[in-house]
Amino acid sequence: MAASNTQQNYDKYSELKAFDDTKAGVKGLIDAGITKVPKIFIHPEALENNPSNPKTTHSNFPLIDLQNIINNKKEIVKQVQEASETWGFFQVINHGIPVSILDGMLHGARRFHEQDVDIKKPYYSRDVARKVMYNCNFDLFSDKALAANWRDSLYSVMAPSPAKPEELPETCREITIEYSNQMMKLGYTLLELLSEGLSLKPNHLKEMGCAEGLGILCNYYPSCPQPELAIGTSRHADNDFFTVLLQDDIGGLQVLHKDQWVDVPPIHGTLVINIGDILQLISNDKYKSLEHRVLANKIGPRISVASFFSTGPFASSRIYGPIEELLSKDNPPKYRATTMKDFFEYSNKKGLDGSSNLSHYKII
Ligand code: OGA
Ligand code: NI
Repeated sequence: MAASNTQQNYDKYSELKAFDDTKAGVKGLIDAGITKVPKIFIHPEALENNPSNPKTTHSNFPLIDLQNIINNKKEIVKQVQEASETWGFFQVINHGIPVSILDGMLHGARRFHEQDVDIKKPYYSRDVARKVMYNCNFDLFSDKALAANWRDSLYSVMAPSPAKPEELPETCREITIEYSNQMMKLGYTLLELLSEGLSLKPNHLKEMGCAEGLGILCNYYPSCPQPELAIGTSRHADNDFFTVLLQDDIGGLQVLHKDQWVDVPPIHGTLVINIGDILQLISNDKYKSLEHRVLANKIGPRISVASFFSTGPFASSRIYGPIEELLSKDNPPKYRATTMKDFFEYSNKKGLDGSSNLSHYKII
């Protein structure tokens, strides 16, 4: 038994390695004309989610209009608070980023992934010290990963100490810089709303450094010949303070709401906001970091761009624990404090294995 197990693991490793060495990602498999999903991508979560398993479309997925934020602040704060407590997810319209920049960012991400593979190869890496890297599955070789995800990604650190312009791929350089500048502004607006939703002063979360770090992840989900066997992104919660997601009109993103997978409907011009693990931790469970996933699809490619707000990956030794102002005798801290460095190292090593990052820090 042990011997056959070893054999199996060995085969899996060599298959992963051979695939990784192509540096061409899932896109490379499609370009080569495959018609079957290779074994390394066959994911148990996809089998669970075949059509005989009903999924819910929810007409009440929160949509918040940020128009007139100055005059309408109280109402908007209330909506943000409710959505963050119950869904951990909401969409925003009239967020201030021109639709042309959103569309431009999606096009830029697509241009990067669809250019000649030889131009992409120098960016292929899993070295977390790099400010710009392209790869297929950051956790491809993690023992705990159940199977590889059907997506390729380009990750760029945009704050603090951003990648130098010349380090960014030319195909999406200008738009990534412009999008990031706009995203930082929106990030601070959202932090104000989120702070007030916790009855803290408007700049509380900003002063804690919750939007100092920005990482931009451009995801490319090629069409999948057997979507019932693979998963675009396996279930996970984000390991940041909060995430702003831009998705095209194909769909496939789902949120685990009250034990049901619910579709996040694509609406052109909107952005999807979700609470990340660290904000759940510092809010002592008031705001929820919900699990989400992306289904594989025959229709593709699907493009999405995730903006992760953090303190900046491995730099920070600042300590984060439940915010004092939120604690009382009846609401003691539910988590031990951690540094961002520790949290990132833990979650990065663990990979998207379907388990929670937060349970590692939970005390009650
Ligand atoms: C992520 C993520 C969703 C999407 O990258 O963390 O959840 O729609 N992406 O690509
Ligand atoms: Ni995510």
